[in-house]
Amino acid sequence: MSSPFGNHVEVAVSRHGFGDQYTMESVDDRLVLTDSDVWTIARICNEPLVYRFLFRDRIGGRPYTEQDARDFIDWARSGWSAGQQMVFLLRDPHGEIGAAIDIGPLDESRDALIAYWASSFHRGLMTNTVERLAELSVNAGYSKLVALAEAENVRSLSILKRTGFTHVGAAVHPITFMGQWVGMDVRFRRYERAL
Ligand SMILES: CC(C)(COP(=O)(O)OP(=O)(O)OC[C@H]1O[C@@H](n2cnc3c(N)ncnc32)[C@H](O)[C@@H]1OP(=O)(O)O)[C@@H](O)C(=O)NCCC(=O)NCCS
Repeated sequence: MSSPFGNHVEVAVSRHGFGDQYTMESVDDRLVLTDSDVWTIARICNEPLVYRFLFRDRIGGRPYTEQDARDFIDWARSGWSAGQQMVFLLRDPHGEIGAAIDIGPLDESRDALIAYWASSFHRGLMTNTVERLAELSVNAGYSKLVALAEAENVRSLSILKRTGFTHVGAAVHPITFMGQWVGMDVRFRRYERAL
């Protein structure tokens, strides 16, 4: 199996309130990644909001390291070629990474689970990124996007409401770090958007 989005994706996303055009690019074998990119990913993943909601529980409270960022990129590249996990990075007009979004099949259905992070220094990006991913996902053959957010994650809940997701109830979901279960399950609010 290969990525349902094709070999490579590179599209523009505009940052709300600023008008800058970011580049949303798939993490595949064609992606050129520098040491500075690795450092930037690690820095963003240690920002308070991103760390709290995505990594604190997954990595047991230790800092997110540059090695984690390199492992993330390797995992994303193999996920792209296997069609299992598709990650996109967003770069500002100067080439600096500001955000990431990923999508993968939820189960055997054509539903897809999405997740994302964005640096507070690139605020205003994720709503438009989710919209862009939804457009791409139609052509990729998905029929529904699903997102899981903690009840206290108000910024993420706002994005989901703004992009047309509906709260459909609670879901207890296994917590994974780069595809590996970390031994805990968390109760999330489940949101869905038909495509
Ligand atoms: C949640 C998160 C991705 C938000 O990123 P972001 O790019 O700042 O998100 P937004 O697109 O909402 O942009 C922020 C602001 O721009 C506004 N905005 C952005 N796009 C907009 C649009 N198209 N129309 C109107 N307003 C828009 C929003 O209203 C918001 O303003 P507000 O806070 O005053 O309401 C980021 O805080 C984060 O990474 N958090 C930690 C990780 C996380 O929670 N991930 C999700 C797990 S479920």
